[in-house]
Order: sequence, then C-alpha cells, then structure tokens
Amino acid sequence: MSHQVSVWRAAQLVGVARGVLQQRVRAGELVLSDGMVSTDALLRLYPGVQFEESGLLERVAQIRDEAFGKRVRERMLPSQEVLAQRLFAQSHELANVRKHLQRYHGLVIALQRRIRDLAAQRCGDGAWRELEQQVTRGLAQALATESVDLLEVMDDMLKVMTAQVTVRPSGHEFAVEGHADLLQSGLHAGLKLNYGCGNGSCGMCKARVIAGEVVKTRHFDYPLSEAEKAQGYTLMCCHTAASSELTLELLEAGGPLDMPEQHIVTRVHAVTVLAPDTRLLHLQTPRSHRLRFLAGQSVSLGWTMPGQDAHAAYPLASCPCDDRNLHFFIERNEADTLARHLFANDISPGTAVTVLGPTGEFVLADGHRSLVFAACDAGFAPIKSLIEHALALDAAPSLSLFWLATRSDGHFLSNQCRAWSQALDQFEYELVSHADATVGARQIAQAMRVDLFDIDCDFYLSGPPGFVSTLHGELRAVGVAAAQIFTQVL
Ligand code: FES
Repeated sequence: MSHQVSVWRAAQLVGVARGVLQQRVRAGELVLSDGMVSTDALLRLYPGVQFEESGLLERVAQIRDEAFGKRVRERMLPSQEVLAQRLFAQSHELANVRKHLQRYHGLVIALQRRIRDLAAQRCGDGAWRELEQQVTRGLAQALATESVDLLEVMDDMLKVMTAQVTVRPSGHEFAVEGHADLLQSGLHAGLKLNYGCGNGSCGMCKARVIAGEVVKTRHFDYPLSEAEKAQGYTLMCCHTAASSELTLELLEAGGPLDMPEQHIVTRVHAVTVLAPDTRLLHLQTPRSHRLRFLAGQSVSLGWTMPGQDAHAAYPLASCPCDDRNLHFFIERNEADTLARHLFANDISPGTAVTVLGPTGEFVLADGHRSLVFAACDAGFAPIKSLIEHALALDAAPSLSLFWLATRSDGHFLSNQCRAWSQALDQFEYELVSHADATVGARQIAQAMRVDLFDIDCDFYLSGPPGFVSTLHGELRAVGVAAAQIFTQVL
C-alpha cells in the first residue's frame, strides 16, 4: 500500500523546492488527497529519486564522520532526550502495526484451514476448491519479500532526525533540526512569527500545542499561568519539538504594519571592503534585544561622532532569520555622513550604532508566483534580503535576478549570485553593466521580455529613481499588472 506524505515532506524526499511541487500540483501532474501525496505518485513523477538527491545519506555520513565532531552532530541531530522520545514513538507505532499484522495473519490462516476443510467435505463443489486456491495464492504473495518503498524509509528516517511543525490557522509548515528551538526554526523557514526578547522573558512568542509534544531547551522567566499551561501554551523561544510531528496554534504577523517600532543600541561587529566603493557594515544587537523585521525593510542608523550626532535610513541586506546580525551595504558618498566616516575608517568594531525601525513596505507578497528581482548597484541590499527570505520560504517555483552595475565594481557580490545559482535549480541571474541607470533599466526590461514574459511573475525593483521608474514603465507597457510590481527607491 502506498505511503502518504505532506507536500512539504515530499519536497524534502525528492530534493526539490516546495514551490516546484506545488506548481506540479496546480498543473494536475500530482494529485493531492486530503493535502497528502502518495509516495507511488511521487516516484512516478521522480522515478530516478535516490537517497543522495534528498541529501539524507550525506547527512547521515556527516553525522557518522568523527572528524565533524560534536558541534556538527549537535547541529544536525536533536538532543538524546528528544531522539529517545521520537524513537520510542516510532517503536510504539511499529509494535502496534506488528501486533495487528500477527492478528490478521492468524485470522487468514484460520480461514484458510476452514475453507480447506469445506473444500474436502464438498469435493464436488469447485467453488470451494477455487476459493481455497485463491486464499493460498494471496497468502503466498503477502508473505513474499518485496522491495521496500524507498521514500517511506526516507520519511521514517527524517521523522527521527527532523521534526515537522504545522502552524494553525495559516497551514504553514517548518522543520526543526538539531538543537534549534521552535522560534529559531520558524524564523529560518521564513515565517513572520510574533516574538520579542527571544530569551523567555516577554511571553510574546506564546503558542498553543494542538498535537504532539514539546520539550524545554532553556530556562525561562516568563510566568505562564496555570490556565495557559492547562490549555497547552508554550514559549517557542524556550522549547523544541519532542515528537516527530507537532501542530501549533499561533498568530503570525500579516505585514509591515504588525512590526513594532524598536530602538536598539547595537555595536559594529565588522566593516568589510566589498569593492573599492562599497563597504559591508555588520552590526550586532545585544543577545537579549534583537531586531524583528521583515525582509526588504529599512532602519534608521544613528551614531555619535565628535561634535555631531548623525542618522540616516538604510535598507537591511540580511535575512530576518538572523535577527542579531544586521548587514548594510554602504556606498562611497561624500554627501552621506555615515558613508564619509566609514570610508575614512572613523567607524570601527565596537562603535555604538543605534537602530530605529523597521520601516518600509517593500516586502514579499503572499502567493505562489515566480519571483523576478531587479537591482541597481547597492539597491541589491533589500533584494538580497528578499531573495534569502524567498529561499527560506521555498514557495516560489523560480527566482530570477537582474543586477545592473553603473560602475566597474558595482557587482560587488556576484560570487553570492553564482553560489545561489550553483546550489539551486530554481535560481538564475543575469549581470548587466551600463553607466546610465535608465539605459541599463531598458536593457534589463529587454532581457526580461526574452526570458520571462510568458510567466506569471511578481516583480521587485530596487535602485535609484531613474532605474526604478524606467523599469516600472517598461513592465507596465507590456501588460504587467501594477499589483505585481513592487518598488524601492533609494
Ligand atoms: S520571545 Fe520573549 S518569551 Fe519568547
């Protein structure tokens, strides 16, 4: 009998993006039954699937390899307590199945004997003889050794190593790997979870356990009331999944308006030269006060220099899943005080920088369309954040990036684009160079027309006013709906 798995798990098993499988479901190539996929149907669609493609064997080999050491095993495997609970649950399920099989086997053997007796008593009745032969043949087939369902084996193994969490009422799903807590895991999967301190003090990450079990990962001070405990409430930042499957009820942020304004004093962790005219400013928040934001948003940075206080807004270039390490791309610009001080090496590791925000509505829209990103120079910052978020969500069938450089070192992270492209089948990119941002925008529009206009896509444009308005106009002129174009003017 075919084994049933969720779309989320199916994508893990065959090693493709969830968005790709969802697209095949919408195209009618894969049929869902109660939201589940049969492993038979999956194997028909991906007949060549091997353990290697899911990355499972690699992960098992890494865990066995002593050279990787304790830290790697901790990252990949849950704690011994959690492993023991999951193995116990699987063994319990296996024991139940075995018990039922033994009972069915006993029942079939008794029926076979009875039919044989009746066939012997009524030797003139061919129907009894035929029924006896049918039961004997069926029993032999059932007892014969058949090749196992490979995907079922992989699914069972993943259930021990990685828990699957389903969120109600949104239906979102995410995986919990290693020692990660529920909050970290949900953020890494791109979910817009509600939270505050991240360390068990504020209670904002409260969620109700509907099914499955959780286990505490760290001490927390927030006092859950007796009524909340009785209803199954838990703190996501201080618990992980103990069972292989967990269902939580919680409220997720809907959009930028749900992001609270935050004021955080961070420290400069590093200033890295990305190109002669571009620096990466890496700020780190205190452990107990991290920045909650959505990919694509900006913040205001404030700092004190001898004789002056300065502040300016910058888009975040990093992913909300790492809410402690905040990245910004700063271009050389004499009119920009922060840039001037940064390029004069006045801002060094340890400097205090206040972060106020987040602001901005240049965030990913909900949906399952393919995504097209276009950036000009350091307009790549919010685009990088959006791409990382989209990759974490794993919901878009494909992602395309067009990046215009108006100066010779404008593609300062082309190695990052190459790495995405090599690692991900659904990501492709094109680098365009032209000193004039308006002409470059037209070149990008031309390249998009060649590649993408037969696809229903959402477009995200970021860069200087001339670049964004020209590209927006070109897209509208060829019939792209205004609701499918999102812009960030820098
Ligand atoms: S985020 Fe504050 S208690 Fe979990």
